[in-house]
This record gives sequence, structure tokens and C-alpha cells, in this order.
Amino acid sequence: MESLILILYILLATTLVGSLLSILRSSKPSPKLPPGPVPLPVIGSLLKLGDKPHKSLAELAKLYGPIMSLKLGRKTIVVLSSPALAREVLQKQDLAFSTRSAPNAVHAHGHNKYSVAWLPVADQWRNLRKALNSNIFSGNRIDASQNLRRQKVQELIEYVGKCCREGVAVDIGSAAFKTSLNLLSNTVFSINMADPTQDSVQQFRHLIWQIMVEIGKPNLVDYFPILEKIDPQGIRRRLKSHFGDTFQMIGRLIDERLELRGLGKTRAESDVIDILLNIIEENGEINRNHIEHLCLDIFAAGTDTTSSSVEWAMAELLRNPETLEKVKAEIEQTIGKGKPIEETDIPQLPYLQAIVKESMRLHPPAPLLLPRTVETDVEVYGYTVPQGAQVLVNAWAIGRDPSVWENPTSFIPERFLDLDVDVRGRDFELIPFGAGRRICPGLSLAIRVIPLMLGSLINSFNWKLEGGIKPEELDMDDEFGITLQKAQPLHVVPFPV
Ligand code: HEM
Repeated sequence: MESLILILYILLATTLVGSLLSILRSSKPSPKLPPGPVPLPVIGSLLKLGDKPHKSLAELAKLYGPIMSLKLGRKTIVVLSSPALAREVLQKQDLAFSTRSAPNAVHAHGHNKYSVAWLPVADQWRNLRKALNSNIFSGNRIDASQNLRRQKVQELIEYVGKCCREGVAVDIGSAAFKTSLNLLSNTVFSINMADPTQDSVQQFRHLIWQIMVEIGKPNLVDYFPILEKIDPQGIRRRLKSHFGDTFQMIGRLIDERLELRGLGKTRAESDVIDILLNIIEENGEINRNHIEHLCLDIFAAGTDTTSSSVEWAMAELLRNPETLEKVKAEIEQTIGKGKPIEETDIPQLPYLQAIVKESMRLHPPAPLLLPRTVETDVEVYGYTVPQGAQVLVNAWAIGRDPSVWENPTSFIPERFLDLDVDVRGRDFELIPFGAGRRICPGLSLAIRVIPLMLGSLINSFNWKLEGGIKPEELDMDDEFGITLQKAQPLHVVPFPV
């Protein structure tokens, strides 16, 4: 209690001194900020954020408009909630808005200084994006790893087959997480990080989810930098421990590879870690720290986002049995009942693709994208986004905007059948992967993996909800980290087709 009172005193005192100083310093007129709620003294609008900021910010945008500003403690936040404004900042003024606003918590283990997701757009970031784009996500590389994805999806189907024979429910998010994790761990290290036949993935999944939760949690330190040393909510301390656990695992794998290379044992086909170690030896553009942090980025950004996309889409299908029947029929007619789906089949499955888009519209895995900031004052639609403000694009609100989407909260994949709207960052009404130069580099991989996993699960089994839950009773509530998870994991019982 005493420490809380002390924190409040410190906040009050620094706010008063800060305000006094800025009044004394300011000779120029104050910028025209976007409209927003009137801030309370000291804390501003912090109390309005709640534990689901994507929803509370969408509600506030209904009152204040598609560009609004909020004062949270000492920080100004600008939130954009329409396709036109998303286009303005992510495309037209992309460069001005391409710096990340790294939360204080990601300073743990110096992650902000090495991470491709948090570095500003400068040489280090360019080198890392180049390493990612040419070694993991280039068209050739992705084509070449098709076999790996076929094999991992086959393992997923075998695991579900075992559950089917035993008559037990499958935790879809967890099974899809294991598949995404093994896909990425094989791409990077040529190993399975999770046993494909066992339920052994929960611990790592929990670790990744805790990282997302801690990064996404509103942190007083971000709004009152004076509290940095105290870290009153313990967010940076906990994230440090989660990062530490992940780095230990990654570091061990890198050491093993260095040892093998030291003994002259090279792999017939280089994986990502080999290629990155080669880059260190050849041109020194990156160092070991970059590799460790890049691996953390890949596992944190690539596993949970992919698996929760599959889980949300399956949940929507189980809640909408007619849609499930319709997509089953499409796959059966095109490929054949129970047969494995190939990536090359996906373009022939427009309804399956529409389901993935519709699910990402309603449940974008990163509802506020990743936060950005501006390094100087920038004009947007006649308002000033002040230097240092945090800029959030509410992709969740845009996906549910009634002026853009008819029946915005209903799951209607048919809407995409005649609509030339894609998720690749060109159509700003649907931007689950962001847009502009900081667009998700994993997009090309994710848009192959998600329909492949989903289509294979649909075509290989029939499904019913566990415990006799009726479709309309299925809990669709979400939980906010920096990504969005289903609050209640989806448990469904597979039975033979
Ligand atoms: C459904 C799957 C995925 C979704 C919805 C998703 C979404 C996003 C979003 C919204 C951003 C921020 C974009 C912006 O600021 O405009 C992002 C960035 C990023 N994503 Fe993804 N992502 C997914 C899968 C992946 C995968 C598979 C990987 C890697 C294996 C990955 C790696 C990254 C990285 C490294 C960044 C930071 C890029 C930068 O700041 O330059 N993501 N992702």
C-alpha cells in the first residue's frame, strides 16, 4: 500500500513539474491533435483501456472518429480505425510511420536493440529483413519447403487420427501450434521442437503466449517513464524470465550447430541457422545476438498467430454447420473425400480461401498490428500526430466497421467470393498482416499453411463439439495479448469421414 502511495506521489509530482516546464518552454501554438476523450489529471484516459484494448478503442472510435488521440499518462496515443486512415499511414506516409514504438518490456535482454520486429528502419533492420526475405520467405525457398509442410500436416492428421480412434477430443489450437512450431523449428534448426505424437507442446505454447500477454499488457512504465527502474507491475521482470528461457533453448541449439561445423560436419542442405551463421562468417552484417533474437522473433511471431488462425476458423465452422458442409462439399468435389490436400490444390478451393479471409476479418491475430511511432510531427487529415506519439491501427475495428462490411459481425464467407479483396496489404479493409514496409514478412508462408491445415482437418474427419455443446452455444470470447487468442480453447471430437 505504502509503495502504491509513493508511486502516486511520484507520478503527481513529475506530471506537475512536466506540465509546468512544457508551459514555460512552449512559445509555439500547440498542435491540432485528433479528437479524443478529455483526459483525467495525471493518468489521462488509462482507465478507459481495460483488458481488451482492441474493443475499448473501437468503442471510443465510434464517439471520436477514425482518427483519435488519447492521453495515457505522459504519452499520446493516436488510433486509426478506418481503411482510408490505415492507407494514409501504412502506405501514403509509410516511411514517416515505419518506426516501431517498442514497449519498455521488450528492453528485457536488449531485445529492442536486436529484434527485427522492434528495431527502427535503419541498416540493422534492413539487414535482418534481407536475411529473412531471401533465406526463409523468398518464393523459391517457400516452394522448396513444400515437402516439409506436407509432412508436418500429415503428422497433424495422424495425431488427430489417433484421437479419433480413441474417441477423445482434440485441442485444435494446441495441435495446430505443434504443427506450426515443428514447421518453423525444422525450417530453422532441422529438428522437431515438439513430439508430433504426444501432447507435449503445452509448456512451450504457454511460454509463447505469456510473451504475447506481457508485451500486450498496458504497462504503467510506458506511460510514466520515471517508473522504469521500479517496473511496478513486474512486466519487464517476467518478460525477462520468459525471454531467458527461450534464449537458453535457442542458444543450446546454436552451440550444437557450431560444434558440428567446427568438426567439419556440414549438412547436405543448409537450413536457416546454417545460412545465418554463414552470413556472420562472410560479411559480418549480423552477429550471434541478432541470430538469437531473430529466432525468438520467428518463434514468437510465427507460431501462435498461425495456430490461433486455424483455431478461430475451425471454431467459426463448428458454429456455422451449413458453412462447414458447404466447404466439405467443395473439397470433396475438387480433391476427393479423405484424400490429402496439396498446396497446389488451394487455388482451386475458393470457398476454403474465403473462409480463411472471413475468419481473419473477424479475428485478426494481431488486432492492433504492432505499434508504430513518428520521429517528427506528422500531418494526417488536417491533424497533427505529435513526435513520439504511439500510433495504433485497429485492424479488429476496421474488420467490423459497418460502413465497410454488411452484417459486420456475422460469419459470411460468401462475401469474399465476388470481392477482389486480399490480405496482402493492398486492400486496407482487410489487413491482418499489416501493410507497407513493416508488413509481416511471414505472410507468404502463413497464407499457404493456414488453408492447408484447415482444409486437411476438414477433409480428413467429421467433427462435433465436445460435451454435446450446441453450435450456437460455442463460446467465442477472446483474450488479448499482443495477439488475440480464443479465451476458451476449442475442443472438438473427430470421427471418421
Ligand atoms: C497468421 C499468421 C500471421 C499474422 C496474422 C501476422 C501478423 C503480423 C502483423 C500484423 C505484423 C505487424 C505488421 C505491421 O506493423 O504493419 C507482423 C509483423 C511480423 N511478423 Fe507476422 N504474422 C503472422 C505470421 C508470421 C510468421 C509465420 C512469421 C515468421 C515465421 C512472422 C514474423 C513476423 C515478423 C518478424 C514481424 C516484424 C516485421 C517488422 O517489424 O519488420 N509472422 N506480423
